[in-house]
Amino acid sequence: TVVVLDFGSQYTQLILRRVRELGFYCELLPYDEPWENVEKLSPVAFILSGGPSSVYDENAPKIPQYVFDSNLPVLGICYGLQAIVHQLGGKVEKSTHREFGPATLNVIKHVGIFQNLPNSFTVWMSHSDRVEVLPENFEVIARSENSPYAAVRSIDDRFYGVQFHPEVAHTQFGKQILENFLKKVAKLNPNWKISNLAEQIIEDLRRKIDGRVILGLSGGVDSSVVAMLLHKAVPDKFIPIFVDTGLLRKNECIEVVKQFEEIGIHIHYVDASEKFLEVLDGVEDPEEKRKRIGHTFIDVFYEEAMKLKEKYGDIKYLAQGTLYPDIIESKVAERKAGAKIKTHHNVGGLPEKLPFEIIEPLRYLFKDEVRMLGQEIGLPSSILKRHPFPGPGLAVRIIGSVTREAVKTLQEADFIFIEELKKWDLYDKVWQAFAVLLPIKSVGVMGDYRTYENVIALRAVTSEDGMTADWAKLPHDFLNHVAKRIVNEVKGVNRVVYDITSKPPATIEWE
Ligand code: XMP
Repeated sequence: TVVVLDFGSQYTQLILRRVRELGFYCELLPYDEPWENVEKLSPVAFILSGGPSSVYDENAPKIPQYVFDSNLPVLGICYGLQAIVHQLGGKVEKSTHREFGPATLNVIKHVGIFQNLPNSFTVWMSHSDRVEVLPENFEVIARSENSPYAAVRSIDDRFYGVQFHPEVAHTQFGKQILENFLKKVAKLNPNWKISNLAEQIIEDLRRKIDGRVILGLSGGVDSSVVAMLLHKAVPDKFIPIFVDTGLLRKNECIEVVKQFEEIGIHIHYVDASEKFLEVLDGVEDPEEKRKRIGHTFIDVFYEEAMKLKEKYGDIKYLAQGTLYPDIIESKVAERKAGAKIKTHHNVGGLPEKLPFEIIEPLRYLFKDEVRMLGQEIGLPSSILKRHPFPGPGLAVRIIGSVTREAVKTLQEADFIFIEELKKWDLYDKVWQAFAVLLPIKSVGVMGDYRTYENVIALRAVTSEDGMTADWAKLPHDFLNHVAKRIVNEVKGVNRVVYDITSKPPATIEWE
C-alpha cells in the first residue's frame, strides 16, 4: 500500500485518485496515525500531502518519526516538502507574497520524478512559505520564478519534495511525475485492478460474515453494488430490504424488484407509502420534509429489521454503501469536533439505533471505482447508469406540500421526460434529469376552453460530481416534443418551463 499522510490540503483526495488511476493501491491516513495502524497496511512508499499550516505554527503538524526511520521512499507535496526540509535541518521562510495559480517550472536535473519530462512546463502553486535552505545531502532539481527550490531530492534518491501540486489537473505532466515517483523512484509495479479487488472483497465478505446480513437497497448504484457483492459472497445469508416511500419515480420500485429478481436476488419489499404521505401532510419547508422522511425511513427500516430478526433470529450485520469520500469527510469532522461523531450515514443515523454490526464493503472506493466494480461483477448497465436520485425523493421536487395527487402528476411528467431522453439518446449525456411540480397555476387555452392548471419545470444538468453543474443544452426540438407530450398526456398540467440556471448559484434540486 502506498500510504498518503494527510496534512489537511483540499487536494489530498486527488492524490489518492491519481495514484489509484495509475494502478497502485493507496490509502489516506491522518498525519499523526500511529505506526501500528500504518504497519498493518504494509506500506511501500509515503506521500505527504499539502496543508494549510506553516511549519512555524505553534501546533504545526509534524511528519511522524517512523517515516524517516522506515527507509521507504517519500514524496512531500507543498507542506509535505516544507515539513521534510524543516525536520531534516533545512530552512523554510515566510514568503512576502503568496504564490497561487499557474507558474512555470524549470527543471534543472532530469532525475527521478522528472525523467522523460520537458525542460519547462506549467505547474499549479498554492503556498506562502517557501524553502530557503536545503538540509544536508539534498539538492535542488527544479525552480520557478518565486520558488528557488520548487523541487528537491535527497542525494540518496529516497526523499523527493515538490512545492507545486502534481495531483491537480492544472499541473502539466502531474500524473507522470507521480508515476515516475512510484515506478522509477519507489520501483513499484502497478498491480491494483478492479477485477482483483472484486474477488478480494467477495472473499473478505465470505470469510467475515457468519450470520444473516441485511441491506437497505434503494436501486441506486452504491446499494446495488453492495447487494451484488453480498449475493456473490453469501447468497443464503443475505436479505436486501427495499422501503417503498411512495416518493420514487413512476414504476421504479417494481422495476428494481424485477431487475434484481432476474439476477437471482430476492428483495424483501416494504410498502410504506401511506406512512410517508401521512408524516408529510401539510409540510412545506424542504428541511422539515427531509427530516421527517429521514426519521420515518429509520423507523420503518428498524421495525422491518426487527420483524426479520424475530423470524430468522440470527441477523447479525447491516451492510451499507458508504464510499471513501464519506469516510474521509467524517474522519475530518471527527477530528475537528475532537469527538467521535459519525457524519457519513446515508440515512441519518441508521446504524446507531440498530443492534447490528456494520459492514461497508465500498468504504475504500470512489464513485467511479464503484461503477467499474459493478460492471466487473455483472450488474446491468441500466442500474449502473441510472441518474442519481435524492433520498427524500419526489418530496423535494414537489414544491410546497406533498399530496398523493401531486406525486402522481409529477411521476407522469417525469416519466415522459426520462422516456424521451432515452429515446433521443440523451439520457447518458446528462448527469441528472427530472421534472419539478410548481405550486402555482397558470392560465392556458385548450380548444375553446380557458384552463387554469399546474406548471411543470424540467431540469437537466451536466456535471462531474454534483458539486457544480451546468444546465444541459438540450435540443429545442426535443424540448418542444417533451412539452407537448406532457401537456397532452398529464392531467392537470397546461404549461412546461425549462430551468436554465447552473449550480452555483442555483442547486440541482429545487428544494
Ligand atoms: P443539490 O440540489 O444540492 O444536489 O445541487 C446535489 C446532488 O445531491 C442530490 N441530493 C440529495 N441526495 N438526499 C440525498 O440523498 C438529499 O436530501 C439530497 N438533496 C439533493 C441531488 O439529487 C443531486 O444529485
